Amino acid sequence: MLHERIPDRIPDLSRLVEPDRVRREVYTDPGIFDLEMQRIHERVWIYCGHESQVPKAGDYFTVQVGRQPMIMVRGSDGKISVLYNRCPHRGNMICGDRQGNAARVENYRGFVFASLAKDGDTLEEFLGESKVAFDDMCDRAPGGEVEVVPNCFRVIQHSNWKLFLENQLDALHPSVVHQSTGRAAHEVEKQIEKQTGKAPLSYHMLSAFATVTIDKWDNFQTLNYPHGHCILTGYMGLRPKDPDTLAYEKVMHKAYGKKRTEEILGVNIHHVLIYPGLSVQSPLQQLRAVRPLGVDRTLTEIWHFRLKGAPEAIYRRSLAYYNLVNSPATLINADDLENFWKCHQGLSSDGGDWVSLGRHFGRDIEKNGMVETGPNMGTSEAPMRNQMKAWTKYMQA
Ligand SMILES: [Fe+2]
Repeated sequence: MLHERIPDRIPDLSRLVEPDRVRREVYTDPGIFDLEMQRIHERVWIYCGHESQVPKAGDYFTVQVGRQPMIMVRGSDGKISVLYNRCPHRGNMICGDRQGNAARVENYRGFVFASLAKDGDTLEEFLGESKVAFDDMCDRAPGGEVEVVPNCFRVIQHSNWKLFLENQLDALHPSVVHQSTGRAAHEVEKQIEKQTGKAPLSYHMLSAFATVTIDKWDNFQTLNYPHGHCILTGYMGLRPKDPDTLAYEKVMHKAYGKKRTEEILGVNIHHVLIYPGLSVQSPLQQLRAVRPLGVDRTLTEIWHFRLKGAPEAIYRRSLAYYNLVNSPATLINADDLENFWKCHQGLSSDGGDWVSLGRHFGRDIEKNGMVETGPNMGTSEAPMRNQMKAWTKYMQA
């Protein structure tokens, strides 16, 4: 097997990663991909699904953890297990197999994770500060819980899995890569506003890609944690004073009181990345789970959730963002997919050996093991540097 030769071929994996640059093989070498599956994806906590995907005893959902076909199933005792999706008799892949080897399974506020390692950190230890993604999403529900809206979009991108994760908190790219989409939406938004006095909020979700320029993205901040997790602050201003939002705030006041409601709705998060497999947009109840298929093929599952107890209009807002920004049909996602493919093509060429992650390198601020970007440096490549730092640690373990 190729990966067995990696320690001989590349005895010191750390020489592939410097603080502000990475060798291109990290994205293109199939042997390194195999080792990543073994040492990262098949070891750490990987998101399997939400408990509402398996509401009744006997319900199951199949999922990939690293290279392993797994099945998340609710047993007759009501407990959720994650099992290898393999018949114990002659080994064919089956659904509904109640026997087999359970992976470690833990659940945080309804979000189910599995780890194929026998021991290690608990899920909460692993998540650390990044668990704010689930707190923020669930707290926004007057009922304190969310439920999944079946089914997800599935997209296969022709590039390495790390390119997807690096894109998620890259605050530099939106106003460049998505500018044409944003400008077109802004033109229509202005016309509607002229004709009717008010444009629908959904246009703002797209036009923000043109109106939020690089200097505004720089006002945001990234917080980078051990394990490779990162948070991007800076909410896109989706707390308007329209009747739907005001009605929702009333329901929240009833559930939590005014002070707590303000705390909940005031949480300033745009994106939380939980390395190595999850990207969460909690204020809009979206998440994307990464399932690497090969060194140059990556599946993403794109899910959205309903806030239990919130008015229908607030769900419609989440659905609009899901369809307009995160779905495979939108121009925003198409812009990114094209770039992922182009990056992978470039990295596979002999045109250069290093990928630079140097933007605002040397200006990060370290605080108790957490690295935050300096003032007006929201577009720093600190999240990518943080992910590669975690990658090196995992790969050497
Ligand atoms: Fe993008």
